[in-house]
Amino acid sequence: MMDQKRIAGEKACEWIKDGMIIGLGTGSTVYYTIEKLGKMVQNGLNITGVATSEQTAEQAGNLGIPLKSLNDVSMIDLTIDGADEVDTQFQGIKGGGGALLREKMVAEASLLNIWVVGEDKLVDTLGKFPLPIEVVPFGWRQIEQTLKKEGIQTKLRKQENEEVYQTNNGNYILDIINQIYTNPVSWQEKLAQIPGIVEHGLFLNYVDIVICGKENGEIEIIKK
Ligand code: 5RP
Repeated sequence: MMDQKRIAGEKACEWIKDGMIIGLGTGSTVYYTIEKLGKMVQNGLNITGVATSEQTAEQAGNLGIPLKSLNDVSMIDLTIDGADEVDTQFQGIKGGGGALLREKMVAEASLLNIWVVGEDKLVDTLGKFPLPIEVVPFGWRQIEQTLKKEGIQTKLRKQENEEVYQTNNGNYILDIINQIYTNPVSWQEKLAQIPGIVEHGLFLNYVDIVICGKENGEIEIIKK
């Protein structure tokens, strides 16, 4: 598993060129991209990173990768990120690491989006993985109730010590469980109508290239 993540994560660095502004995703697969990028920067590559989480900013900062905030760039050339699920239509679920809001804002600003995944992330239909929604703490129970009335089960995300998990934006995450997304577009519309939902983890029409590390050590490049 570790190796699938490493080979996919490192492979993505081949798309990085001198002078680019690079969106840096969050998670244990893109971790390997950032480690390799750090070495490239130490060897003289000139790029600027835009981090999608405090965790990524810390890793990149420690490696000497120059960073700017999203507000300080006009666009991003390429973003490399992980994903929790990708289907055959290039639609995905993200946010397992809680960074979905910043990840989506960075993806939206990017000319090219690459996802790095292990082969277990490729699915026919989205939904095996819980769908995270980022909610404003004020009134999160209302959102839970609204969804429950529609038969949608959620789980408030907690940390290992049982304290409520808070995103880098100070919000909570409700994970939608036991759902299959045969029509993710209609789900996107439904979730957008509920006040207090800041963002959801359905990433539809974002990814351009999926780099998939396989158990047998091969790498599959899947282009849209
Ligand atoms: C974080 C994410 C991650 O990209 C996603 O959870 C995949 O992570 P990993 O590479 O650790 O499996 O969306 O919010």
